[in-house]
Amino acid sequence: MESDVITQAVSERYARAVTNGEEMCCPTGYDHEDLRTFIPEPVLKVSYGCGTPVGLTTVQPGETVLDIGSGGGIDCFEASRRVGPTGRVIGIDMTDEMLAFARTHAPTVATNLGYSETNVDFRKGRAEAMPVEDEDVDLIVSNCVINLSPDKPKVFQEMFRILRRGGRFSISDIVADQNVPNYMIHDKEKWGDCLSGALPLHEYWNGLRKAGFLGIHQVNLIPWRVIDGIHFLSITLTGYKLTNPPATTSAFATLKGPFSQVTDELGHAFKRGIPEPIDRETAALLQSPFYQGLFVLSETAMGFTRSDAQWTEVLPEDITCVWDGYFAMLTGPFIEARDDDGHTFQCGIPAEICSKTHRVLQHDAYRPYFGVINRATQPGAHDAVICEPTGGCC
Ligand SMILES: C[S@@+](CC[C@H](N)C(=O)[O-])C[C@H]1O[C@@H](n2cnc3c(N)ncnc32)[C@H](O)[C@@H]1O
Repeated sequence: MESDVITQAVSERYARAVTNGEEMCCPTGYDHEDLRTFIPEPVLKVSYGCGTPVGLTTVQPGETVLDIGSGGGIDCFEASRRVGPTGRVIGIDMTDEMLAFARTHAPTVATNLGYSETNVDFRKGRAEAMPVEDEDVDLIVSNCVINLSPDKPKVFQEMFRILRRGGRFSISDIVADQNVPNYMIHDKEKWGDCLSGALPLHEYWNGLRKAGFLGIHQVNLIPWRVIDGIHFLSITLTGYKLTNPPATTSAFATLKGPFSQVTDELGHAFKRGIPEPIDRETAALLQSPFYQGLFVLSETAMGFTRSDAQWTEVLPEDITCVWDGYFAMLTGPFIEARDDDGHTFQCGIPAEICSKTHRVLQHDAYRPYFGVINRATQPGAHDAVICEPTGGCC
């Protein structure tokens, strides 16, 4: 289907929704009581996001925040509160009706916040060609929009272009556990429903990485709908445009765990406890927020073994093991990671796991790295199987 046809169908859909004050869409996690103290009720009603822009909690006064597909303005107005009167917020949307609606409410929000004028600038534009200067933004947020774009690699490139070095993104969006079939892709109504344009998680994550982002990891993942066997998930991801690597004395990195082996986003493999030589770029990556604490960085090679306090592992318990339909998806920041039971997980690709591994991945040390879905639709026998490296299980 032509890109222009998709864009027009999506824009008409949201023009209709805001004009009629429709309530729709997906799981968000707003504190409505709090937002009501400064955001008008009609804006809350036409909030069409699929997550909580948790990145906004990291905002500092004076920063510049950009919201891709700002819609009725809910996240822009929350950003406006957080950046304070010295900060700036830019909302980009392609739909005139949405822009008009959001602009109408901006002065009221400014008054409620005690600002002399609004610090939110709603601009008409497409996510694939944003009307924003290079490196003008500290934080990009977006809530349930990029799945609607017919050209996601272009959106990711644009995000990288407009973000300052050291900046970050926090986006909530709909992804799928597999390729969405052609009969959905070629149904223009389903584009507006956030279904047709949902990328498989691995493609979404790789798209962001190819655009230049690093430290890409899940903040939240909520199973949303299952249609024709396809699991649609609401995911919130964060990632960084790292600063140019500073001079460093760290020449080696040693993985602490909980994985026994990982491949970082730059393609370097690390085994737990074994020091690997690293360059400046890798040192900068391993010191970025999500990686920090997972590695020991040192001037000289520093290995350690299981008895060392730095070593982290989560071994499976000696319990009955059954196949009950669970699949785990690694959600970053590693391209690939291996646990202590011989499973190798690739980012965004569902891997079938038994009940024993399911339990391991629920451990605090592993939970931040995985999303878990259950694909079983029929009640099964769930017979116990022999679960050992040479047995019939994982
Ligand atoms: C599902 S709504 C979400 C609105 C808002 N983020 C929220 O949480 O309420 C999607 C919005 O993105 C806009 N949009 C969709 N695709 C876009 C694109 N390619 N470029 C710019 N805006 C787009 C639509 O006009 C609509 O306002």
